[in-house]
Amino acid sequence: MRELLGTHMDARETWATRIGFILAAVGSAVGLGNIWRFPFLTGESGGAAFLVVYLCLVLLIGIPVLLVEFVIGRRSNRNPIGAFDELNHSQWKIAGVVGAVAGFIILSYYSVVGGWAIQYMLAGLTDGYVAGEGAEAFFAETASGTGAIVFHAVFMTLVGGIVALGVRNGLEKAATVMVPSVVVLLVGLALYGSTLSGASEAYQYYLYPDTSTLLSDAISVLPAAAGQAFFTLSLGMGVMITYASYVGEDRSLLSDTGLIVGIDTAIAILAGLVVFPFLFTQGIAPGDGGPGSIFVSLAGAFAELPAGNLIGTVFFFMLLLAALSSAFSIFEVVVSFVIDRFDIERAPASVGLAVIIFILGIPTALDLTYLELYDMFANEILLILGGLLMSLFIGWVYADNALEEIQKGRSASWFGDFWLTAVRYFVPPVLLITLALAVVGYYEFLQSTFF
Ligand code: PHE
Repeated sequence: MRELLGTHMDARETWATRIGFILAAVGSAVGLGNIWRFPFLTGESGGAAFLVVYLCLVLLIGIPVLLVEFVIGRRSNRNPIGAFDELNHSQWKIAGVVGAVAGFIILSYYSVVGGWAIQYMLAGLTDGYVAGEGAEAFFAETASGTGAIVFHAVFMTLVGGIVALGVRNGLEKAATVMVPSVVVLLVGLALYGSTLSGASEAYQYYLYPDTSTLLSDAISVLPAAAGQAFFTLSLGMGVMITYASYVGEDRSLLSDTGLIVGIDTAIAILAGLVVFPFLFTQGIAPGDGGPGSIFVSLAGAFAELPAGNLIGTVFFFMLLLAALSSAFSIFEVVVSFVIDRFDIERAPASVGLAVIIFILGIPTALDLTYLELYDMFANEILLILGGLLMSLFIGWVYADNALEEIQKGRSASWFGDFWLTAVRYFVPPVLLITLALAVVGYYEFLQSTFF
């Protein structure tokens, strides 16, 4: 689009309305990360302590880093690959490369989980949902094996096809119905969950941290919580650079940030309020749910609710829309990178990449261990590294311009100073510590898995 419009900034298209930008950013942020990944990670990481650390990281790291990406995007009017050239700091392109590699890996298994959502959507229309052990058996069948590979292919075809046909915008508009629908469905399910026998135990687990061990728990869950904060807000990959590149200068980046983070976080918290009461009531220890947590617990619920098969189908259809609008944003980063780096046309680049990403994802569709392996590496290491590099760039190399940029569009000036101070002195050390812990954790995970 930029090429057609020429290089003049004022000639470049901007979002027609404030809401257009927010919807696109929310469409990218809200996805499997909130509804699938957040509850299962919280369950594996001990519950409330994880929630506390995650919320602190969203506020103290997520918001500043989101603004870092917004500032880079609006200042450069470019995608993450071109952005650093445009700002005359080409060597920082490495941040874009890290992001593109992360996107490549993430999409390969994101698509597998998207395929699970399709299978669950169809299950409501065919055999219906089953509770109890049947729910666990159904998940095991869905998650790995031929079916998983076939629907991984279906999801990747949808992503590639919709992008190639240029109907992505239309679908993203349709997805605007998705966010409110997901909220309504989750609120309804959470209310239903609150009436179940396992509810009080679940809330205890999910919402009340054990203060005596909070500090040591916090350190042990730090990499996972930081990875989740980045993943759910689509940070560290440059997605938000691209979206902000279309934002007009008259707009306050700060208030948009608040709204995006608020919606994204609320949906994750709600997903936890749904999953844990069901798991406890079904007698599944939260740590044992793993990547199946949301699927097993909800299938159990839909099996018992009146009109459960219909509600379930609608729910998983909404989840599919949410996953698709996030997947487009990841695909976009990877495709732009390949076009830029290898000078290939958009159409062949998209098709070729969709095929390569599909192949890369196959191991994760055969064995959930690989899924965790990909997931930890991409989120806890690559996304954090990408965010660290971008923050260092803005805080230490591009600070004056960044401050000017964030001040545009009615953002209060005290906030700009506050933000920049955080980006210089707070964000990098925290991300560095997180990264070190993540690398050690990953090494241990590899050892325990393969040796
Ligand atoms: N934020 C998306 C989700 O929560 C996933 C995503 C990660 C999208 C990174 C873009 C970049 O599902």
